[in-house]
Amino acid sequence: MSAIIMDGKQLAAQIRDTLKDEVAEYQNQSVQPGLAVILVGNHPASETYVQAKQKAALAVGIRSYLIRFADNVSQGELLAKIAQLNNDPQVNGILVQLPLPKHIDVQTVIDAIDPEKDVDGFHPLNVGNMQVGKKTLLPCTPFGIVKLLKAYNIPLQGKHAVIVGHSHIVGRPMATLLLNENATVSVCHAYTENLKEMTKMADILIVAVGKKHLITGDMVKPAATVIDVGINREGKRIFGDCDFDSIKDIASHITPVPGGVGPMTIATLLCNTLQAARSQSKQPVLV
Ligand code: GUN
Repeated sequence: MSAIIMDGKQLAAQIRDTLKDEVAEYQNQSVQPGLAVILVGNHPASETYVQAKQKAALAVGIRSYLIRFADNVSQGELLAKIAQLNNDPQVNGILVQLPLPKHIDVQTVIDAIDPEKDVDGFHPLNVGNMQVGKKTLLPCTPFGIVKLLKAYNIPLQGKHAVIVGHSHIVGRPMATLLLNENATVSVCHAYTENLKEMTKMADILIVAVGKKHLITGDMVKPAATVIDVGINREGKRIFGDCDFDSIKDIASHITPVPGGVGPMTIATLLCNTLQAARSQSKQPVLV
């Protein structure tokens, strides 16, 4: 039997529809939410992502500002811009598109973002809040994946989730969010010695590595749910980290690339921006 294809594109469109109404209602009571996106250089994939984020923001009524810097921007200039955006009441969310050029220390840049405006959920305060299960801004890709899993009624509690990739953007926060759902979680990465043995144990297999077709059907447990976060470009074509054709008759559910995780990341960013705007507009409590 062929796996159910988890349509992230469709779910993201539904989320955007709901958000559009919520943004309009929010705007009636307050001001239009604003998202600032900082793009350094002209990395082709980043250009595409940033464009998609801006287009989606506009479609739901979120004002978006694109701030571009050349590749050779100094770290100081970048930090000064972030400080300015932190103090700008029209900006509720700040996102610095990664990767950054090598001469810039990514963590220093992330640390400079006001945690209340950190719609990527990368600031250490938000990472810590996520760890302890406190409501906070959550990283968009893993949070989008949890939404997708829940929309398809994939049981998480007690299930073995195996994550391939231990990045700060996807793998690590994914592990935390699944632990918070009471899944049993294993995290594999480039140094894992017995990858196939590990992936074969997964009820839920989440792959975020950036290697075309790293995972093939023989590495997947029958009836598993397979979430492919990979975006690997070859000319105009995009391939995932999972070999869809060899997995589709083994898994029970699988995400396509494109049209699976990618749109969910963007929809979640918009949700985070509205959440950030709401928490910033809270009237101070007068004692
Ligand atoms: N580069 C790849 N994914 C992401 C993401 O989720 N956020 C940011 N800021 N940069 C990225």
